Amino acid sequence: VDMAVDLGGGHRLPNPLMTASGCAANGRELHRFFDVADLGAFVTKSVMADPRSGRGTPRMAETPSGMLNSIGLQGPGIAAFVDDDLPWLHSVGARVLPSIAGGSSTEYAHVAATLRASRAFDAVIGVEVNISCPNVANRGLVFACDPMASAKVVALVREQLPRNIPVFAKLSPDVTDITAIAAACVKAGADGLTMINTLLGMSIDTDRMQPHLGGVTGGLSGPGIRPVAVRAVWQVRQAMFEGRIPTVPIIGVGGVRTGRDALELVAAGASAIQVGTAVFNDPSAPVRVLAELTELLGERGYARFTDAVGAAHGRG
Ligand code: DOR
Repeated sequence: VDMAVDLGGGHRLPNPLMTASGCAANGRELHRFFDVADLGAFVTKSVMADPRSGRGTPRMAETPSGMLNSIGLQGPGIAAFVDDDLPWLHSVGARVLPSIAGGSSTEYAHVAATLRASRAFDAVIGVEVNISCPNVANRGLVFACDPMASAKVVALVREQLPRNIPVFAKLSPDVTDITAIAAACVKAGADGLTMINTLLGMSIDTDRMQPHLGGVTGGLSGPGIRPVAVRAVWQVRQAMFEGRIPTVPIIGVGGVRTGRDALELVAAGASAIQVGTAVFNDPSAPVRVLAELTELLGERGYARFTDAVGAAHGRG
């Protein structure tokens, strides 16, 4: 099966598997388990303008349906990212999809402009704009729930980057109509969409009668949100088929642990798949999922990965 895919900008990815932002830091840890250059792309933890320590601890809790996190966008800031993390990823031959975040549209623009000017920018094959973090003061949803605010961030980031760098807007499942946000982002210049970020949740320690997380609420990831991700990808792909949104590539993310999970998102319309929470149990999960997905596609008679994208819409 030919697993190659082009998500825009003429960058041919050898396969559609990626890390999900935030679950693999900036690559060094996972590289002890497999060669991160074997992935279609490596998606980094969202980086903001300045170093941030994030929310108070504890910041992770397990639930029967997945993991809750309230990290609060901890990170080194864009200057350290371009001086250290990005050159390291470049040195090992990774194709990098940096995730960027901001508290204002001008912060996003500054982060994008700093990336563009950096010495290892050659490693970058696209930029993921995280407009949907649930763990910041305004719940991030000030961008992700508002089509105008989403559009403004996307348009400003798009302006900072060369044409051969596709911009992916990462959307939140915590909205009434994800197709309306998707449409606003694409009309503002997004070259692709990543769906979904975590779902806002909470858990309570009934011994202490207190919330588990220092941040009180958190983002739910893992198996419990997989049907939500499948639904979001399917709805947005369907809106593209119906001409309500211009057709752009969709990156599917949410609770993928196996090749079968990945194939479900592909059938719903995803042209690439990110693996996040699963790496905590199995650090090699992204490359294992790639092998499993390749085998399943072969069993189903597909010669090319791209032929399976959106197959569940029954249009081809
Ligand atoms: O669940 C999430 N946690 N999503 C994000 O976008 C950011 C992250 C964090 O740092 O809190």
